[in-house]
Amino acid sequence: MTTSTRLPKLMARTEKVMRGRRPIDPAQPVRVGVDLGTAYTVVIVTDLDGQPLAGSYRFADVVRDGVVWDFAGAQRVVGEVLSDLETRTGRRFTHAAVTIPPAVGTSDHRAHRYVVESLGLECTAVVDEPNAANAVLGVTEGAVVDVGGGTTGIAILRGGHVVATDDEPTGGKHLTLVLAGALGLPIEEAEQLKADPANHRRLLPIVRPTLEKIATIVARQVSGHDVSRIYLVGGTAGFAGIEQIVTEVTGIPAQVPVSPLFVTPLGAAAFDGAPAREGADSASDRDAAVLAFAQTHRGGSR
Ligand SMILES: Nc1ncnc2c1ncn2[C@@H]1O[C@H](COP(=O)(O)OP(=O)(O)OP(=O)(O)O)[C@@H](O)[C@H]1O
Ligand SMILES: [Mg+2]
Repeated sequence: MTTSTRLPKLMARTEKVMRGRRPIDPAQPVRVGVDLGTAYTVVIVTDLDGQPLAGSYRFADVVRDGVVWDFAGAQRVVGEVLSDLETRTGRRFTHAAVTIPPAVGTSDHRAHRYVVESLGLECTAVVDEPNAANAVLGVTEGAVVDVGGGTTGIAILRGGHVVATDDEPTGGKHLTLVLAGALGLPIEEAEQLKADPANHRRLLPIVRPTLEKIATIVARQVSGHDVSRIYLVGGTAGFAGIEQIVTEVTGIPAQVPVSPLFVTPLGAAAFDGAPAREGADSASDRDAAVLAFAQTHRGGSR
C-alpha cells in the first residue's frame, strides 16, 4: 500500500468504528486515547498496532481555552462516552492517555489527568494535541496544526523532532458564533449548519474572515521556522476551503487529511503506555510504541 493511501484507509476505518457495535475480546490488549476538547470529547480504542477498534464522542462545553472549567461536567461527559464504548464493545477500560493543548500550564493540564483518574482509569500519559496527531500523520518536517473548537495549536517538526509548540484561542466555536450572528440563528442551529459540509460553500464568505484569522495565527506560529508544509487536523480543518486560505495567508502549502476530527484522538491512543508496561507489547517503552505506530501509518509526510 502506498503512503498516500494508508492514511485515508486508516481514517475510513476510524470513521467506521465510531458507529456500530463490535465486541472486543477481554484478553486483547488495547490502547485508549481521550481527547478532551473545547467542543468534542472523543475517545478512541485501538489495538497495539494502532488499528481502531471502537470510538465514541459527545459535544460538551466543559473545556475553555484549553482549561477544564467544568470539572464535574467533564467527568460526566467522559464517563458517558466510556460507558457508551463499554456497552458497544462489552469491554471495560482501565487505562488511557489524555490530550492537552500545547502551551497549557502544568496546573491546568493536571485537571485533564484528574478527569480520567476520577473515572477509575489510570492515566498513563498526558500528550499535547499536535503531538498526538503526529503519531498518526508521521510528519518529520513541517508543522502539524490542530484547529479545534476553541484553540489553534501547533507543533513544528524538524528531523522527526518537535522543536516548537504553541497554542492560541480561536477555532470552530468562533466560526459558529459568527454564523449565528450573521444569520440570526441560535448557536445550536448555527453549529448544525456548519457541521454539514454540504453548506460550506455558501457559508464560506461569512466565515472567511475568521478562517483568515486562524491562518494569521498559524502564520505567526510558523514565523522564524523553516516550514515547507502545513498539516491541518482538528474538527475545524474539516471546513472546506480552509487549506486554501491557510496556504494563501502563510505562503506555505497546507493540506487536510480525511476525517481530521479523529486524527488527534486516534494518535492519543498511541501514547497509552499501559499495554507495554503490562508486558502485552514487546516494545518496552512508550516512545517505541509511538514510533512503531507512526511508521505503520506514515502517510502525512509526503
Ligand atoms: N465537518 C466539519 N466542518 C467544520 N467544522 C467542523 C466539522 N466537524 C466538526 N467541526 C467543528 O470542529 C470543532 C471541534 O473539533 P475538535 O474536536 O478537534 O475540537 P476540540 O478538541 O473540541 O477543541 P480544542 O482542541 O480547541 O479544545 C467544533 O467547533 C465543530 O463545530
Ligand atoms: Mg482538540
